[in-house]
Amino acid sequence: MIVKTDPQRPQKDIIEKAAAVIRGGGLAAFPTETVYGLGADALRPEAARKIYTVKGRPSDNPLIVHIADFEALYRIAAEVPPAARRLAEAFWPGPLTMILRKTDAVPRETTGGLDTVAVRMPASPAALALIRESGGYIAAPSANVSGRPSPTCAEHVARDLGGRIPLILDGGPVRIGLESTILDLSEEIPTILRPGYITGEMLAGVIGEVQTDPGLSAGDPQARPKAPGMKYRHYAPRAELIVVSGEAGKVTETINRLTAESSAAGKRAGVICSDETRGEYRSAVVKSIGSRSDEDGIARHLYAILREFDDLDTEIIYSESFSTPRIGQAIMNRLLKAAGHQVMEV
Ligand code: TXA
Ligand code: MG
Repeated sequence: MIVKTDPQRPQKDIIEKAAAVIRGGGLAAFPTETVYGLGADALRPEAARKIYTVKGRPSDNPLIVHIADFEALYRIAAEVPPAARRLAEAFWPGPLTMILRKTDAVPRETTGGLDTVAVRMPASPAALALIRESGGYIAAPSANVSGRPSPTCAEHVARDLGGRIPLILDGGPVRIGLESTILDLSEEIPTILRPGYITGEMLAGVIGEVQTDPGLSAGDPQARPKAPGMKYRHYAPRAELIVVSGEAGKVTETINRLTAESSAAGKRAGVICSDETRGEYRSAVVKSIGSRSDEDGIARHLYAILREFDDLDTEIIYSESFSTPRIGQAIMNRLLKAAGHQVMEV
């Protein structure tokens, strides 16, 4: 069932209805500012286990626990380092997830067997209200079937999970469109395990030295990321996806040549481009991700575009590269993962 709610001023009766599902040990999907989440009571093993079943998620891939008040951290984190407090003051509620050592209150079902717990306080008022009303701790991965792009609107959730969960809270399209930045604070040097809207520079501005997990290195399919979820070929479109990177004119020229070849071979080809180059492509289904001058827009549209291509039964997609200044690292991280790291330099 899809129930509409105002994400900024959520109606009390609707939140109560969704919270009743979660308190009863069930699953409810809900909007956050990053992507839609599939929520369950984080402190109940059998509730967390349901998430893995419904998503078809590998059981070693831990969940993020969503909280609504900073004080809630003390029940689930064995240690709250000063850096965590400072980061929370700067970025919570918001798109930052912190990894801390866990207490016994958090079942291993929630953490995929790890001694650490990932925690985030989402910015969406609807999400915060739901967390409070549900008892304070909601485990929520992105509300997609494992291996599909994360959902940025309720329709995406319904397409993937409709019929398998009792309730989807529809708060309209999300604001950011890429999952939260994950920062590991459980080791000596704070380490980014997943890039996101909160950049390394922003984090370093608050706590000083921050490093990026070397296992994330773009272009290296052999790299071993530390966040279990980053090792899977997530965000994978059904079509083969190739990122073409280089000087703009050469990129359009190469993509036009490749799509013409694909079409001649009877393959349905697609192009992911920007508003600036849209008019230059021929012989393929062409979709613009937005203007290069609006990097927030590029981030927000990426997953929806990958899903649109899935619906069109495209067999091969050529994408321009989007290394924009601020969240470009996060955009490219997701795009390259979707492409299985297939990049053509021109
Ligand atoms: O923006 C977001 O973070 C969204 C919304 C719903 O909050 N959630 C989300 O969850 O993206 P999910 O499950 O799709 O991604 C969680 C990532 C996975 O890559 C997982 O491996 C990693 O976080 N993770 C969770 N707990 C971890 C831990 N204790 N240590 C290392 N990585 C962890
Ligand atoms: Mg996910």
